[in-house]
Amino acid sequence: TRTQVAIVGGGPAGLMLSHLLHLAGVESVVVDHRTVEQIETTHRAGILEAGSVRLLNDSGASDRVLKDGHEHEGIALRFGGVSHRIDFQKLVGASVWLYPQTAVFADLYRTRSRAGADLRYGIAGTRIDGVLDRPNVRYVADGATYEIQADLVIGCDGSRSICRELVADRNQYFREYPYAWFGVLVEAPPSAPELIYTRSPQGFALISQRTEDVQRMYFQCDPNEQPEDWSDDRIWDQLHSRLSGEDGFQLKEGPVIERTVLPFRSFVQSPMRHGRLLLAGDAAHTVPPTGAKGLNLALADARVLADIVVDALGRQDLDVLDAYTPRALDRVWKAQHFSYWMTTMLHREANGSDFDERRQLGELSWLVSSAAGSAYLAEGYTGWPDERVL
Ligand code: DHB
Repeated sequence: TRTQVAIVGGGPAGLMLSHLLHLAGVESVVVDHRTVEQIETTHRAGILEAGSVRLLNDSGASDRVLKDGHEHEGIALRFGGVSHRIDFQKLVGASVWLYPQTAVFADLYRTRSRAGADLRYGIAGTRIDGVLDRPNVRYVADGATYEIQADLVIGCDGSRSICRELVADRNQYFREYPYAWFGVLVEAPPSAPELIYTRSPQGFALISQRTEDVQRMYFQCDPNEQPEDWSDDRIWDQLHSRLSGEDGFQLKEGPVIERTVLPFRSFVQSPMRHGRLLLAGDAAHTVPPTGAKGLNLALADARVLADIVVDALGRQDLDVLDAYTPRALDRVWKAQHFSYWMTTMLHREANGSDFDERRQLGELSWLVSSAAGSAYLAEGYTGWPDERVL
């Protein structure tokens, strides 16, 4: 096969890019070793920034996000057993939308399929060659080898990217954390109108939502926990103890229908371009989940990259691609700081000192009593405006 753009990875970044390129008359082929069913049933984050909602809606990628998504005008920050509301609308005039990543994927997949896109899921043995001059992607399916020749290859292949290893002059920036999240889906009604981010002496917990009958919750755990070791009772004990407080707040219980331990780290690779290869989404950067920035960054990359690719192919000028890394990383590093800050403010270190604990409470107390403190959280959570052209 010959195409203009070969996209390795058909998650939200890859499909959004393929969609935006299609709207601009640029053709692409998408390959992914996962099946559609595997992606559709992997639960990820659930919060979209206003800019992500606008992109999904205005580009025609999703006609459901405004109908089925739920606008959230704030969150609750809970510590010392008391909840404090952070009012995004009042502080920065913006909202976020609760709309799960599985729905974003399903919408993008349906939109691309209806437009007749060439999407190849469930393939194996992906190999990328010739990224400096004549890129090609080879893979195996049903025992046969296939080859896609393209002008550009885009690596949207997630946090275990093979594409990013092809960037010869790469710098990689990491931060590890000594904890993970235990994530559950539970059959229960919502316990509160908005998300609750809690810091407690037992560690962090987050009460999120999915539907009227299913809720999403997380609590800080050791990275080596095995999900099978956790009975429903043990999970509810942890959640109750972290959410309890003098205001008498009560979580609504129900059967746990899914449990997973989520990895946790901060990572950035730069540059995001090497010759005719470019990276987008988790392939180039990973954030810890606190604050739900991962999917939003992936969609923002796709938007910036689509513009630059259309321009570069139209002018037949590869130098145009150099604008991508600085434009994308401007937002990425803001989100890296925000995710790191939300994480370290709300989690407990196993051998943290009394000083650390009291300093953390001091920061939270400042945050909820200061318009400046609350506004930083509100601005970062709802997302920064489109990057300036540097
Ligand atoms: C969800 C996940 C997050 O990491 C977050 O900060 C907020 C919500 C979620 O899955 O709903």
